[in-house]
Amino acid sequence: MTETIKGSVVLITGATGAIAKALIAELKARGAAKIYAAARDVSGLSASQGFVPIKMDVTSDAEVAAAAKAAGDVTLLINNAGINHNTAFMVAPDLAIAREEIEINYLAPLRVTKAFAPALIKNKGAVLNLLTILARVNLPFMGSYCASKAAGLSLTQGLRGELTPKGVRVAAALPGAIDTRMTAMLSIPKMTTADAAKEILNGFEAGEEEIYVGEMARGLAQGLAHDPKGVERQLASPG
Ligand SMILES: NC(=O)c1ccc[n+]([C@@H]2O[C@H](COP(=O)([O-])OP(=O)(O)OC[C@H]3O[C@@H](n4cnc5c(N)ncnc54)[C@H](OP(=O)(O)O)[C@@H]3O)[C@@H](O)[C@H]2O)c1
Repeated sequence: MTETIKGSVVLITGATGAIAKALIAELKARGAAKIYAAARDVSGLSASQGFVPIKMDVTSDAEVAAAAKAAGDVTLLINNAGINHNTAFMVAPDLAIAREEIEINYLAPLRVTKAFAPALIKNKGAVLNLLTILARVNLPFMGSYCASKAAGLSLTQGLRGELTPKGVRVAAALPGAIDTRMTAMLSIPKMTTADAAKEILNGFEAGEEEIYVGEMARGLAQGLAHDPKGVERQLASPG
């Protein structure tokens, strides 16, 4: 099962995003042999030695199937694409936001992992899902995002149960706040994308199944272990 980055063949979804760019730089620094950069808009990505842009909207069965056909040598799939509408359940006018978050944060990594599973099984590879510490406890002002990531955490556990016996490792990163457009409206301490990428890949290479990224995530995980109701109440009335 893939545990080291050196020599790996990686496909990362949402490759034009801020965390993805930092992960790609760190993957290169650690000696990844090839990186498939999958994005719905590849116009800003240019191919180079070991770097292969690939058009893939994660909501499209056809594009995901075509990418899986083109990238049969993948040993590490990173499900990174995600959206956060930063919306509370009662504020949303209807179900459109919740539906889109579930579509991209839960159904899409399921679709992509199903499509790449035959290659990952053949190559004894790994899956790394980009979740959030908020997959483990709901922050109500972005409640529907948290619910979709909680579904992503359950997906990760189920995939681990199904794929580990077939030689595929399944891990998840659960970061706290990272400084990207997704958190632009939050005035709280945020990690840099470069530090987050290093911590994610350090945890992956250390063989961790749940990788808590940053002090905020580690603090909340510790709180959840000792006083889960206290953490729930703290997030329900922050500040
Ligand atoms: N920032 C944080 O504090 C934080 C914390 C914990 C976890 N995360 C997770 O980390 C991941 C990356 O987030 P980020 O902060 O780097 O945000 P970002 O800069 O907004 O990147 C998100 C990426 O997902 C892509 N994407 C969205 N819908 C897609 C679709 N249908 N098909 C293909 N790609 C799609 C976006 O593509 P376009 O550029 O085309 O829109 C973008 O490249 C997400 O899963 C997020 O939930 C972020």
